[in-house]
Amino acid sequence: MQIILCDSAEEVGRRAADLVEARMRQGPAVLGLATGSSPASTYAELIRRHREEGLSFRDATAFTLDEYAGLPADHPQSYSSTIRREFVDSVDLPLARLHTPRGDAGDLVAEAVRYDAAIVDAGGVDVQLLGLGANGHIGFNEPTSSLRSRTRVKTLSSATRQANARFFEDDGEEVPKLCLTQGLGTIGESRQAVLVALGTTKASAVRAMVEGPVSAFCPGSVLQLHPKAVVVLDPEAAARLTLLEYYREAQALDDELS
Ligand code: F6R
Repeated sequence: MQIILCDSAEEVGRRAADLVEARMRQGPAVLGLATGSSPASTYAELIRRHREEGLSFRDATAFTLDEYAGLPADHPQSYSSTIRREFVDSVDLPLARLHTPRGDAGDLVAEAVRYDAAIVDAGGVDVQLLGLGANGHIGFNEPTSSLRSRTRVKTLSSATRQANARFFEDDGEEVPKLCLTQGLGTIGESRQAVLVALGTTKASAVRAMVEGPVSAFCPGSVLQLHPKAVVVLDPEAAARLTLLEYYREAQALDDELS
């Protein structure tokens, strides 16, 4: 796991965007996209580079991580709508190559299997962007998710539904109870994972993910088994890490070499 310590949300966005751009410069890329507030500065930076520096997503393909069950794709709070509003509609990624799980599928179990297979058929994800739940989830893999799980239907925890109530007029009851999410095994197959975390509310989960044991109780800790996982943090999210000095030294050396 590589840890990148940043001074601000904007720097988190720049560092994460650097990793996405580096892969895109190598040729057509399959991107894994997260929704929620964590990647906002990353998307803002990628949109800026698209507009001002000619970074093109024309040849890219994208798969989102998860979706609320029961919401049609055009519901304003569906992750399908959200990713378009917050990123895809502002760049030149062809909509035909934006893939999202269908939360309103009649057979959600079959939809999960189809989605997982579609990722494999596309050649797998090159760069997977991730946020981290305050309870340690990645995607919507809640604590005790199987570390080798595939895309499937999951029950959202009440903590996650409360945390996301802000997108549903602060009414936790409006947040769907079920979701479709890429599994931890699915996410683990991405060729690079880039997790961004911001703010004090993530500090305990960051510590458990980076320095705790690999455990289904903190699903993000499965990234310790990933061959190329990068964790990009603002000062508040990094505040509870014990090896901060070591991460700083490693980062300085890495920056010097690149
Ligand atoms: C969203 C997702 C979730 C979020 C996590 C953090 O697609 O997969 O794991 O990344 O819930 O949410 P925010 O970023 O809103 O704090």
